[in-house]
Amino acid sequence: MSEDLLARRARLLGPNMSTFYEDPVHMVRGQGVHVWDADGRQYLDCYNNVPHVGHCHPRVVEAICTQAATLNTHTRYLHEGILDYVEALTATFDAPFDTALMCCTGSEANDVALRMAQALTGKTGVIATDHTYHGNTTAVHQLSRSNPPPGGYWDSVGFVPAPDSYRPLGGEGGMAHAHAFAAAVQAQIDALEAKGCGFSTLILCPFFANEGFPDLPRGWLDPTVAVVRRAGGVIIADEVQPGFGRLGSHFWGHQRMGFTPDIVTMGKPMANGHPVAAVVAPGDTMRAFRERFRYFNTFGGNPVSCAAAMATLQVVQDEGLQANALDVGAYAKQGLLELAGRHDAIGDVRGAGLFFGAEMVLERATKAPATAYVKALANGMRRRGVLLNFLGVHYNVLKMRPPMPFSRENVDQMIETLDAVMSETPLS
Ligand SMILES: Cc1ncc(COP(=O)(O)O)c(C=O)c1O
Repeated sequence: MSEDLLARRARLLGPNMSTFYEDPVHMVRGQGVHVWDADGRQYLDCYNNVPHVGHCHPRVVEAICTQAATLNTHTRYLHEGILDYVEALTATFDAPFDTALMCCTGSEANDVALRMAQALTGKTGVIATDHTYHGNTTAVHQLSRSNPPPGGYWDSVGFVPAPDSYRPLGGEGGMAHAHAFAAAVQAQIDALEAKGCGFSTLILCPFFANEGFPDLPRGWLDPTVAVVRRAGGVIIADEVQPGFGRLGSHFWGHQRMGFTPDIVTMGKPMANGHPVAAVVAPGDTMRAFRERFRYFNTFGGNPVSCAAAMATLQVVQDEGLQANALDVGAYAKQGLLELAGRHDAIGDVRGAGLFFGAEMVLERATKAPATAYVKALANGMRRRGVLLNFLGVHYNVLKMRPPMPFSRENVDQMIETLDAVMSETPLS
């Protein structure tokens, strides 16, 4: 069955359409933190952040159906849906964030954010980390070091080493790592200025999720923020991964890091699977962008999307899912730390709220990445009915980022299964 589907995919969609796992899962149904495959087998979903408030949450389904049965148009007509939603969304921010632009994907949001930064600074130079992913438009694809663009990188793009708390640049202890990162940003600013395009923006995920979510203390970005401000640039916080309460202690990743970006982008979990994304900015920034660029997005901010996004936000708030992320995430980290007492392959346990995992090493002394091992673990977990994955600079970090209603009981199942899979998988 799945072989037939794989062949049809290749024939109809072309080659190189990636799938997770050696034996890809053919999902047919989801509810809460579980999904079921075509054979009726249940899986615990420890990975998917798009169904933020749980697969097929009835309130979101109902909101989508009701609005779809009433009206769906675009934003050139007047409708309260987008206004009510932007009011509710910006209320989760601190000042001065009070406006939003609605679009459909995180890639679009970051693409718009880059142009907002251009409108503010009059310059085009962009700095990103060397192990990030910000999306797939032509402009943001330029920021992807792990998937280089054909024809090479534009002169207006510069990279800095991804933060790595397990092997910190500048050495262990204190803020040396933070200052080393800021110095690398300064060097790239100087290079962009020398090339003539000038420095416009530093774009980063405030949780450095794709980089392997290093364990960075609050204030870690302060020296970098100072460097960017001194150069007259702006900071884009890509909250596609850490936003909407996932980190538990704060609603947004930048709030947890303790800095105020200039522009914030979001997507993935925003409408529980319906394609909704946004750029949130202070009113002056939005005005500068709107005056400089004519921007219209046919599907962005349509009434059905806004109803889905509103229902998702209300469920996060009404069901206390941020507090759940704080509690269950701490419990999961504790479980992983206990597992590290039994398995030497766990070199480091990291995370915040319901975004956590462990870095796997061949040997703790050398910290040599156990990349093949972590891949085998992900496949072993899938065989035992638990879905998770891996990422990081060396692709050796087990990554878990489940739907937000994830419970302590779900953690117990995940830890017990991981214990068994680690015991049966040879370290290589
Ligand atoms: C940090 C980050 N930004 C942006 C994106 C792109 O979002 P989308 O796939 O909705 O375009 C992703 C997708 O994985 C992401 O991880």
